[in-house]
Amino acid sequence: MGRVFITGSSEGLGLMAGRLLAADGHSVVLHARNKARADDTRAALPQADGVVIGDLAGMAGMRQVAAQADAAGPFDAIIHNAGIGYREPRRVATEDGLAHVFAVNVLAPYLLTALIERPGRLVYLSSGMHRGGDARLDDPQWERRRWNGAQAYADSKLFDTVLAFAVARRWPGVPSNAVEPGWVPTRMGGPGAPDDMSLAPVTQAWLAVSDDPAATGTGGYFYHQRPRDAHPAARDVRFQEELLGYCAGIAGTELPR
Ligand SMILES: NC(=O)c1ccc[n+]([C@@H]2O[C@H](COP(=O)([O-])OP(=O)(O)OC[C@H]3O[C@@H](n4cnc5c(N)ncnc54)[C@H](OP(=O)(O)O)[C@@H]3O)[C@@H](O)[C@H]2O)c1
Repeated sequence: MGRVFITGSSEGLGLMAGRLLAADGHSVVLHARNKARADDTRAALPQADGVVIGDLAGMAGMRQVAAQADAAGPFDAIIHNAGIGYREPRRVATEDGLAHVFAVNVLAPYLLTALIERPGRLVYLSSGMHRGGDARLDDPQWERRRWNGAQAYADSKLFDTVLAFAVARRWPGVPSNAVEPGWVPTRMGGPGAPDDMSLAPVTQAWLAVSDDPAATGTGGYFYHQRPRDAHPAARDVRFQEELLGYCAGIAGTELPR
């Protein structure tokens, strides 16, 4: 049985993946943004082996989460699930002056990957919207462009896919894959989302623990346990290195070799 850490697991797909894994007898460590949400999280999944607390919008919070995760680890797998959606009506600046969507959706998984002891496997939540992402780092903090929440989200999910494939290349011993869960009616997805909620947490849990040969490869992009094409830019080694370098520059922490 594996030990799995899931970010952003106080509700939605992270909590659902935690439930699936715990029901199969795996040890699950969840994560919530603050103490009140941690209480909700414990109540939602009492079988969890722990709840790490920290707000991933700020680099200080990201570092706190990494330190607590290391204290609760090592992990057989980490699912980088925490995220915010495409409905922010304006650019929200974090305490570090970054665009909120970029900080939570991109810098947090980057920095947690760089800081937490290398797990057995890594899974990153992408989205079908990543295909509309802009494969450039011209203005990733939306300081010059007119704000477009859907574009900022699509870009962030492209960057998550780039990150998954970059880590797969840099760390060949650690399977690292990206998942498109479908558009489902979580808080983020909204009540009208058309896809099957019961399937949405399955692939990330499967990639985290299954011995199925299809789940143990690296550098894959999956939808409902099947490979699917990702945006071609995600395979571009130069772009991967550019994104890693950009995140390292902001965070002051390189991805270990
Ligand atoms: N739902 C969809 O249709 C869909 C489609 C494609 C991809 N995805 C991806 O799937 C992942 C999960 O989405 P979801 O639909 O489950 O969303 P959700 O229901 O809104 O849940 C998001 C989770 O992330 C946490 N989170 C957000 N910002 C945080 C922060 N600053 N610090 C700590 N935790 C934070 C939330 O905590 P709080 O509850 O405290 O805010 C919550 O636990 C995301 O990466 C998303 O991009 C979802």
